[in-house]
Amino acid sequence: MSRYETLRGELAAAPRTWLVTGCAGFIGSNLLETLLRLDQRVVGLDNFATGFQANLDEVRSLVSAEQWARFTFIEGDICDPATCRAAVILDGKPVNHVLHQAALGSVPRSIADPIASNAANIGGQLNMLVAAKDAGVTSFVYAASSSTYGDHPALPKVEERIGKPLSPYAVTKVVNEMYADVFARTYGFKATGLRYFNVFGKRQNPNGAYAAVIPKWAGAMLTDETLFINGDGETSRDFCYIANAVQANLLAATADDAAQGEVYNVAVSGRTTLNQLFEYLRAALAEQGVSYAQAPTYRDFRPGDVRHSQADIGKASRLLGYAPSHTIVEGISEAMPWYIEHFRRG
Ligand SMILES: NC(=O)c1ccc[n+]([C@@H]2O[C@H](COP(=O)([O-])OP(=O)(O)OC[C@H]3O[C@@H](n4cnc5c(N)ncnc54)[C@H](O)[C@@H]3O)[C@@H](O)[C@H]2O)c1
Repeated sequence: MSRYETLRGELAAAPRTWLVTGCAGFIGSNLLETLLRLDQRVVGLDNFATGFQANLDEVRSLVSAEQWARFTFIEGDICDPATCRAAVILDGKPVNHVLHQAALGSVPRSIADPIASNAANIGGQLNMLVAAKDAGVTSFVYAASSSTYGDHPALPKVEERIGKPLSPYAVTKVVNEMYADVFARTYGFKATGLRYFNVFGKRQNPNGAYAAVIPKWAGAMLTDETLFINGDGETSRDFCYIANAVQANLLAATADDAAQGEVYNVAVSGRTTLNQLFEYLRAALAEQGVSYAQAPTYRDFRPGDVRHSQADIGKASRLLGYAPSHTIVEGISEAMPWYIEHFRRG
């Protein structure tokens, strides 16, 4: 049995308390769903900056009434220290585990408004770290990012070799890791960073200028709109299905002390070009009886984007027992019915 399967059994048998920040967003709402399905008690914090009530409503529809009753939602901003202090306490006691996901994602958003990204991503994380340390939570896991590798050309990416950040967003994620490191040195409080590599799956927003590529393209295909590829299509990414990211969070939160306070790549260690991705999505749609006949339109490269990305996942595998359950193709195929239900017109 994998460590993750064993852990799920242990959690279900002896439920714990969790705080998920950013719980109305994509990754946060998937964490919430998994934890509630395992009968955990969960506090969720979100200000709906980029998250949606509809994501919470969908989770509610997927769990039992008893499981939903174990969820406490706080609408609030991680930029407010008092809100963070309140969120780490449940029934007078500190929560066991914090999964800190709240942030303003997207490289182009941070280029358009670096002040907002800095405030939420750096100030917000600092508030959460202080609140969690002062309350004495058992573990703290935060969303780091593959953007931290910046201009370092080596592939696959190993945790200790990073380059210079290429965007304000990347700076915020590098600083998150620096704060985590300094909290361990200064206060003995360990925070564990998960460097996500292009996570995708249900409840990821397809709309707006800052949408991620997979939901955006699935949406374009399902509404028969023209789809754009930035650059020549040979830009590559290590696309990571949401189930893998959820697994990494639960494993990291419950890992032994020696594995805490580290940063881990969370990906599959695959490499898919945008041109391949286009074909994977088209094929998965065709399997569901939907055809998309248009060719993609190529346009300029996007500033701040790294050219290639692929993770070495050996560290997460060794220290956390992480073993991705889904390849990109398996993930797309599992997510496609959700995309069809939510993105198709009429
Ligand atoms: N999705 C990816 O591929 C990816 C890759 C690398 C890192 N990350 C990181 O993972 C985390 C989650 O990303 P996501 O894809 O789920 O994005 P998302 O935008 O769907 O979720 C982020 C959530 O945080 C909330 N939030 C933002 N600012 C807040 C604030 N000041 N106070 C309270 N809540 C706030 C938003 O409303 C939203 O619900 C982020 O930290 C992001 O930087 C994501």
